[in-house]
Amino acid sequence: MPLVTPTLGEIPQLLEAQLRALIAAPAGATLLALGLLLLALTALRVAIGLLGFVYSYWLRPERNLKRYGGWAVVTGATDGIGKAYCEQLARKGLNVVLISRTESKLQDCAAELRERYGVEARVCSADLSKATPETFAKIGAALEGLEVGILVNNAGVSYDHPEYLGEVDDQAVYDMVAVNALVPAMLSKMVLPGMRERGRGVIINVGSGAATIIPTSPLLSVYAGTKAFVDCFSRSLDAEYAPLGVRVQNQAPLFVATKMSKIRRARLDAPTPDAWAAAAVRQIGRESSFTPYWFHGLQRVFVRLAPDWLINRQVMGIHQGLRSRYYRRLAKQQAEAAVAAAGEAAEGAAEGEGEDAAAGGTKRELRRRK
Ligand SMILES: NC(=O)c1ccc[n+]([C@@H]2O[C@H](COP(=O)([O-])OP(=O)(O)OC[C@H]3O[C@@H](n4cnc5c(N)ncnc54)[C@H](OP(=O)(O)O)[C@@H]3O)[C@@H](O)[C@H]2O)c1
Repeated sequence: MPLVTPTLGEIPQLLEAQLRALIAAPAGATLLALGLLLLALTALRVAIGLLGFVYSYWLRPERNLKRYGGWAVVTGATDGIGKAYCEQLARKGLNVVLISRTESKLQDCAAELRERYGVEARVCSADLSKATPETFAKIGAALEGLEVGILVNNAGVSYDHPEYLGEVDDQAVYDMVAVNALVPAMLSKMVLPGMRERGRGVIINVGSGAATIIPTSPLLSVYAGTKAFVDCFSRSLDAEYAPLGVRVQNQAPLFVATKMSKIRRARLDAPTPDAWAAAAVRQIGRESSFTPYWFHGLQRVFVRLAPDWLINRQVMGIHQGLRSRYYRRLAKQQAEAAVAAAGEAAEGAAEGEGEDAAAGGTKRELRRRK
């Protein structure tokens, strides 16, 4: 029998007839019922997810932070997210111990907190990338006798620019592993016995969307790896200590407008450190791994929906672009430096010739005078 191709106008009737035939058959009706059930369940899941999103970001009440203890300790406290975190905690009436490298910046930030919020503020300068047992002993001494209710392991270091691991400076690898992974583990270890004894406390580890949200972060592999440690460490430690009254959380931002991200102007997907820290403080005592800023949360939902290969390709493309831009800028700077050096050399040579000529002239004048 020859095949008859339906015209465009006949297609809806044909589909309808086939659907009717399907429903009429018992297996077809069951299939359709299952399909509708699946659709209803999916719609319910989406609705619950949406309500959960709105509740977590805007509706659920904040914890009373002072009930964890009178003091908070913040690392990387003099800039960006850490500084903003200190302000948010001081605003809630907590005394703060600030830890960073630069003593003068620490003193300025502490003075500002005392003046603006009337809280106590102490400082402890330490280069966490060179953390040794002595460094931890120094920090331990600074915390002696304080009821530390909140520890914010915020200090973190990243790549200067996205790069293939083979090309990354050795020291940068040591620094990232030390500051991002070793130090949070050691400082947590330091404050946990006191928190456990009191049966209350919170440890916040500032992670990164590079590990918690995005499936892979090529060209930032060591940074993302250390932040994956932060995520798993936080969730594991939370499971370990939550039954004892101590909570541990990974709070993971995507972009925030700070020196590290090199984003100067805040935008919807890269809030100011203040906006991010205000959102983060609202989530203290909640999920063991969370994205506190709502727009990052939305980005997380979309990343989860998209296939990994697509996200990975996008991220690799962005990082490749940033790397190329870095090398273009470097080449331009080197070319400018070479031109400037050549100019200086030419000037020097001309000055030298001038000096020689002047010396010759002086000699001639002396001979003439004689
Ligand atoms: N900004 C983002 O887009 C972004 C995104 C995801 C995750 N994060 C995470 O958020 C955290 C804070 O980042 P940020 O952007 O606020 O950084 P930032 O603006 O560069 O500030 C870094 C802070 O850490 C201190 N610090 C740096 N190296 C240190 C060291 N070796 N020892 C002690 N203190 C040191 C700095 O003060 P001194 O220089 O005086 O020591 C400064 O107070 C990091 O863990 C980072 O991985 C940031």
